[in-house]
Amino acid sequence: MDKLRLTGGRRLEGEVAVSGAKNAALPIMCAALLTEAPLSLANIPRLMDIATMAKLLGQMGVRIERTADGKMSLHAERITEPTAAYDLVKTMRASVLVLGPLLARCGRAKVSLPGGCAIGLRPVDQHVKGLQAMGAAISIDHGYMHAEAKRLRGTRIVMDLVTVTGTENLMMAAALAEGTTLLENAAREPEVVDLANCLAAMGARIEGAGTDVIRIEGVASLAGASHRVMPDRIETGTYLAAAAAAGGRVRLSGAAPETLDATLEKLREAGATIRKGRDTVEIEMAARPTAVSVRTAPYPAFATDMQAQFMALATVATGTALITETIFENRFMHALELQRLGADISIQGNTAVVKGVERLQGATVMATDLRASAGLVIAGLVAEGQTVIERIYHLDRGYEALETKLRALGAKVERVR
Ligand code: UD1
Repeated sequence: MDKLRLTGGRRLEGEVAVSGAKNAALPIMCAALLTEAPLSLANIPRLMDIATMAKLLGQMGVRIERTADGKMSLHAERITEPTAAYDLVKTMRASVLVLGPLLARCGRAKVSLPGGCAIGLRPVDQHVKGLQAMGAAISIDHGYMHAEAKRLRGTRIVMDLVTVTGTENLMMAAALAEGTTLLENAAREPEVVDLANCLAAMGARIEGAGTDVIRIEGVASLAGASHRVMPDRIETGTYLAAAAAAGGRVRLSGAAPETLDATLEKLREAGATIRKGRDTVEIEMAARPTAVSVRTAPYPAFATDMQAQFMALATVATGTALITETIFENRFMHALELQRLGADISIQGNTAVVKGVERLQGATVMATDLRASAGLVIAGLVAEGQTVIERIYHLDRGYEALETKLRALGAKVERVR
């Protein structure tokens, strides 16, 4: 299994091009299931999760072509088998995003329950409840959800909690339902808006994406379209946090600064100077960071997907930071690994108390999930000596060309096979 070896202590200087957003690309790829016509996408990142989704859709008869420059065309002319099997679903929870589109297009779907996940329980009850409200019959049998509905009917759905993929699943299903669907307490994440924009280009009638009430007027069929996936705000934030921890001056190009308000605000609080352009963000960090506390919550608040990176930043800050996680119940696994590097962290319930230390020391650590790994990379960039991160397949799920991009900033990093 590949490892990442970092030698810490260098300032980061230079420019990095941001990739397309994984969490927008995944649902948008599933939107291809809603039409017989081809869907042409641009700015698709080269990531393990994207390959997994392509494989999953391929098993259903979707023809997929990828070209080198981030373009992908998906053609679901005929869906041969509306089934998502356990072997792929278990590796990527976002696979559940095929449920709504398959049901709407084929009238039936069989999707494996995602099962346990390292960062928490992450049930799918809201997806199921919403589809049932739209008239679907759903049963659970031998670890699979079996869903059936001749034609879904629009209705008012009030979600018990804010779920990103739940909102996306129901929005896609509602696009082909009969009548109007109101999704209340919907997720406001920019990736939901990007999906809504793609669906609109395909002929869907959607209002309110980006607010907590989304109104979808179902149509009989959707057409093909071309869509460019939005920039990855979490990747952007990760490089910014890395620069804030290591010091230096880094410019991110091809970014969407308007999606980063909460992160940028916290970086400023940590002492960084931030300059925003139309599609660029630049960070300059001259001194040791000041401790900043964060509390994760649904967008537009501070993202749970940025929590581990900010915990890493706090480990070398002056002062004490409180990092509170309100979305996932078990998302502090990186804290133990950061302690192995000399961080001073104590966990009290869903809050980590991080007392900044002057410096971390390199050691061997283990990646446990995607964003936890990103936190460890940041720690490795500032730790004295060598840090080896094991199980970096987690990073390959969500960070395109990580070593190349870090090296372009002057970091000393190599992949050990
Ligand atoms: C998405 C993102 C993930 C991010 C998360 C929160 C994708 C592919 N992934 O994951 O990177 O960390 O949003 O911003 O976009 N929940 C339920 N019942 C449900 C659905 C969710 O109880 O039916 C709970 C979950 O256990 C979790 C919370 O709601 O505690 C938020 O989960 P959700 O927004 O659904 O996360 P994902 O969409 O899986």
